[in-house]
Amino acid sequence: MQDFIYQNTTKIFFGDHIDAELNAAVTQFGHNVLLVTGGHSVHRSGLYDRVQKLLSDTTITDLAGVAPNPKIDSVREGQRLAKANHIDVVLAVGGGSVIDCAKVVATAANYAGDPWELVINRELSRSTPQLPIVTILTLSATGSEMNSGAVISNPETHEKLGTSGAHTPAVSFLDPRLTTTVPASQTAAGSMDIFSHLTEQYFDREPANDATKGMIEGLMRSVIKWAPVAIKDGSDLAARSNLMWTATSALNGTMGLGNRNAWSNHAMEHVLSAYYDITHGVGLGILTPRWMHYVLTQDPTTTPLFARFGRNVWGLSGDEATVAPAAITATYDWISQLGFPMTLPAVGITDDQNFAAMATAAATKLGNSYLPLDAQAVQTIYRAAQTP
Ligand code: NZQ
Ligand code: ZN
Repeated sequence: MQDFIYQNTTKIFFGDHIDAELNAAVTQFGHNVLLVTGGHSVHRSGLYDRVQKLLSDTTITDLAGVAPNPKIDSVREGQRLAKANHIDVVLAVGGGSVIDCAKVVATAANYAGDPWELVINRELSRSTPQLPIVTILTLSATGSEMNSGAVISNPETHEKLGTSGAHTPAVSFLDPRLTTTVPASQTAAGSMDIFSHLTEQYFDREPANDATKGMIEGLMRSVIKWAPVAIKDGSDLAARSNLMWTATSALNGTMGLGNRNAWSNHAMEHVLSAYYDITHGVGLGILTPRWMHYVLTQDPTTTPLFARFGRNVWGLSGDEATVAPAAITATYDWISQLGFPMTLPAVGITDDQNFAAMATAAATKLGNSYLPLDAQAVQTIYRAAQTP
């Protein structure tokens, strides 16, 4: 196992704690609150009004309308509002997009320059003091509620980049009831994102990291089991609860501890959604089985780990040479049964004119991935995703 240092200071309130605890959780940092929200969902569910009532003794400034795949312009507007209103604490109410935007705003509030500089320069971002962040999560997917990462898009430059702030959120409220309104398609996309975070950390070259691999297998089985239940019946609380804690656990840092190499599918997907603004989880659903197939066929030394994945996650049996590819088929079938479009044309990407530029951009992040990928390899994976 590789050496590591790990600290995560996010306080989690899981379940029905918002009414009793939100006010104290926010006002411990001050009374000037920047409330960051997305589109209509938070109004339709009544959550926006509920939060306003609970914080009636604070001064709230709104940063509303943060879009999925949050854009740098929303961060710029948040920076302006935070400075003008002497904000003490940033409260994000929404999914990963809202939380990610809130995180970079919380840093940009203390930064004199343009916030895009904080996105392209992770070290600069991490060393800039960050306002405290409180989150109320409404969609199980990214793990942003308990990590320091944020992903921001710049439509002008076709870039979607991950950065990191000085801190994880100070407090996160995880109430699975708030996710019962998430539509089936977003539930599927979120579940695929969870599954991808797990595969990214599972397929790793560290030879003896059994502790982490075993935990990942348990979380994989959880998302595989509960995603279809939540898609069928959005109000199923057992499913919503398991998906929520699985999502947070998958990307709060613990599942990558002791690991050796970098991620693969996220770099390829972030370029896809930078160019075509598609849903992150949908892009991952299309790419992941193709990436698995490419890795297994290019590098037979990966067979034992794919076979372990097949046995421990999918419950397959047989010899390694049979179980390894069967695990990829099982993965493909599960994703497709979640109701996903399984090809790039099915999400409107009907030509390959941007593939070369996209592959070059993605490949800059893939030199140290499980199977190092160059631009040619990435193009091969994009092309494989053109047909079922
Ligand atoms: O905008 P509203 O109206 O709120 O609707 C949202 C949005 O359209 C809706 N939604 C959220 N909660 C809902 C709801 N609809 C009904 N009921 C609710 N309770 O869902 C849609 C998608 O929301 P979004 O926040 O975009 O989804 P998600 O949580 O999947 O976040 C995706 C973003 O996070 C980034 C992705 O790249 C993408 O930009 N990621 C962030 C990571 C991180 N910070 O650690 C890691 C991930 O790998 C990922 O890259
Ligand atoms: Zn993701």
